Amino acid sequence: MEEQEINKLREQLQKQEKLASLGMLSAGIAHEIQNPLNFVINFSKMSDKLLKDLTEIVEDNEDKIPEEDREDLEDIVEDLKENMAKIVEHGERAISIIRGILLVSRGKEGEFLPTDICKLVKEYVWLSYHAMRANHKNFNIAIHEDYEEGLPQIMVIPQDLSRAILNLMNNACYAVWHKSQTAPEDYSPEVNIQICSKEGNIVITIADNGEGMTDEVKQHLYENFFTTKPVGQGTGLGMHITRDIIENRHGGKMSFDSTEGVGTCFKFTIPIKLK
Ligand SMILES: Nc1ncnc2c1ncn2[C@@H]1O[C@H](COP(=O)(O)OP(=O)(O)O)[C@@H](O)[C@H]1O
Ligand SMILES: [Mg+2]
Repeated sequence: MEEQEINKLREQLQKQEKLASLGMLSAGIAHEIQNPLNFVINFSKMSDKLLKDLTEIVEDNEDKIPEEDREDLEDIVEDLKENMAKIVEHGERAISIIRGILLVSRGKEGEFLPTDICKLVKEYVWLSYHAMRANHKNFNIAIHEDYEEGLPQIMVIPQDLSRAILNLMNNACYAVWHKSQTAPEDYSPEVNIQICSKEGNIVITIADNGEGMTDEVKQHLYENFFTTKPVGQGTGLGMHITRDIIENRHGGKMSFDSTEGVGTCFKFTIPIKLK
């Protein structure tokens, strides 16, 4: 082996080690945060229940409370209810982000479970969207979803499939964001997600109108550690892992179509297996 190759291998190993320890660290943190977050959500649900009780007591004693005080009271109770709902909503969003981190950083083999594909895809599409919005404050994209109705639950490894969706969505979001940095004002970033069934397969497509890929990128797309992103933004592992998940673990097929400057469309088909 040439010295150059050895150095490259060593570098890859170091990267992998770093990633592994980073993964363990973030899984640990995510796990620790999950508990207090569950408390926040549960206590606000309980408070919501208490507010309902309070409303009943007020209603029972309507005649004893002066008219204007009663209106104030009702307004306050309404506001409190809305606040509680917001706490629950955002708390649950945080939980789902943490679940994403746990999924991505956990390496163990998952099992096949009957899964509502549309629900799973939707969850991770929005997880990626919110993560991007959190990183790029004034950036917005339009997400279009088109899910075939009435699909049965099919056997997949939900843990892996969600990771694949997250990878593709993160890439799509990055591609439109990166393009928006230099695109004309009237550029409106879009990501389209479609799920349908066709000839015994589930077909999932994720299409963006982002920066697209050069021929060179297309050639190396699935290689480990191939990335065009700056340090800290990309690992170059996403596509490799995603293809492994779709093709090796699910016996599916993955393909893409991309035009530089115009956009990229990823498509994968997974054979429908029912329980
Ligand atoms: N939707 C996309 N649009 C444009 N380029 C993409 C897209 N998805 C992947 N790529 C290209 O493929 C490379 C490898 O992707 P990936 O394996 O997920 O690694 P990473 O996202 O960490 O760079 C990216 O750096 C990017 O150049
Ligand atoms: Mg990626």
